Amino acid sequence: MATQIFSNIKLLVNTRQTASSVRGEDLSILPCLQNAYLIIENDIISEIGSMDDFRFATEGKILPNHTFVLPSWCDSHTHIVFAGSREEEFIDKIQGLSYSEIAERGGGILHSAKKLNETSEDELFNSAWERLEEVSHLGTGAIEIKSGYGLSVEGELKMLRVIKKLKEKSQLKIKSTFLGAHTFPLEYKENHNGYIDLLIHEMLPVIGKEKLADYVDVFCETGFFSPGEMKIICEAAKKYGLRPKLHVNQLNSIGGIETGISADAVSLDHLETLNENEIQLLGKYKAISTLLPTAAFFLRMPMPPAQSLIHAGAAVTLASDYNPGSSPSGNMNFVISLACIQMKMLPEQAINAATINGACAMEIEKDFGSIAVNKKANLIFTKPIPSLAYLPYSFGNNLIDQVMINGSFV
Ligand code: NIG
Ligand code: FE
Repeated sequence: MATQIFSNIKLLVNTRQTASSVRGEDLSILPCLQNAYLIIENDIISEIGSMDDFRFATEGKILPNHTFVLPSWCDSHTHIVFAGSREEEFIDKIQGLSYSEIAERGGGILHSAKKLNETSEDELFNSAWERLEEVSHLGTGAIEIKSGYGLSVEGELKMLRVIKKLKEKSQLKIKSTFLGAHTFPLEYKENHNGYIDLLIHEMLPVIGKEKLADYVDVFCETGFFSPGEMKIICEAAKKYGLRPKLHVNQLNSIGGIETGISADAVSLDHLETLNENEIQLLGKYKAISTLLPTAAFFLRMPMPPAQSLIHAGAAVTLASDYNPGSSPSGNMNFVISLACIQMKMLPEQAINAATINGACAMEIEKDFGSIAVNKKANLIFTKPIPSLAYLPYSFGNNLIDQVMINGSFV
């Protein structure tokens, strides 16, 4: 068995042994071990402890002073399979058009769908693979990936097959989500039922048979899918064992949260636009509230009310939403900085949200999301830093020295 010993760790971060989401004010509690050692057997953490109790013949790898070790980021909401980029719309937005106006002109998601349907499965795989490599060097060790730029039977299945191949070939832990209900293709703009029939009768049966997805997602929004349409799609997906992770309340509050809760969603994501009643509902809901601050930042939207949600008792998670239209970056370090700077999350809250709660949003908390015995050795080793708060404080700077995935450095 390959054993790796690391000693002289300034701080082991998030050493919680329990595998459950952290809610409400408890989000500020981040268990850590100072002056620590860490032992890994193959791909699993086998022991952690204080240097005062270190009793091994070898010191193993003695880390430079002031090295912090964290669990790798669990990025529970991304769209990293896409073709091309959308910087023309970036300029349009600078010149005053809104996200909805761009979508109405056939831009936005439809623009990405056109490009995706013209791109081969191999090309899609290669570009998504590069994005996975990129985010793994930035500390991401587990990631959810959605379809949703196909919007045709062929295109959606192509995307999901790419995600399946990524799962097979990548060392990262990957969960796959079917987001055929991302928007209505132009030819179904006036025939919603026609497209929903396609989702339910043409796509879902193949997805079920080939085990192409773990979850279902719907973009519930004015001009996109209504709560009623979302409910029908979630019920159909349930027959194939897919629980929902949903885009709700990004631009408008139209009842997506109530519907998502009654559909037993694993997570309710975006939440930029919330009224007081919805905040209270999320505070009591057993599952996850996912916040995507880089999407709000990029679209110049108000930030989700993180502290109100935490105060109400919600299990808040942070994710990157990496996609070509609203968050063309998967850098979780920046997500965490932005959460602290713009949503006033404390560094401890943001780190819990991006690790253990991110793992819960992908239902992988038994093996990921903290530095605990028997969990996967997916870890971030920092450059020497003076304190934990220095990580989000020093935004935009790369403070990661090395990333370990399944016991090996990437
Ligand atoms: O999460 N809001 C819906 N979906 C994506 C954006 C998709 C796009 O613009 O390409 C999001 O922000
Ligand atoms: Fe998204």
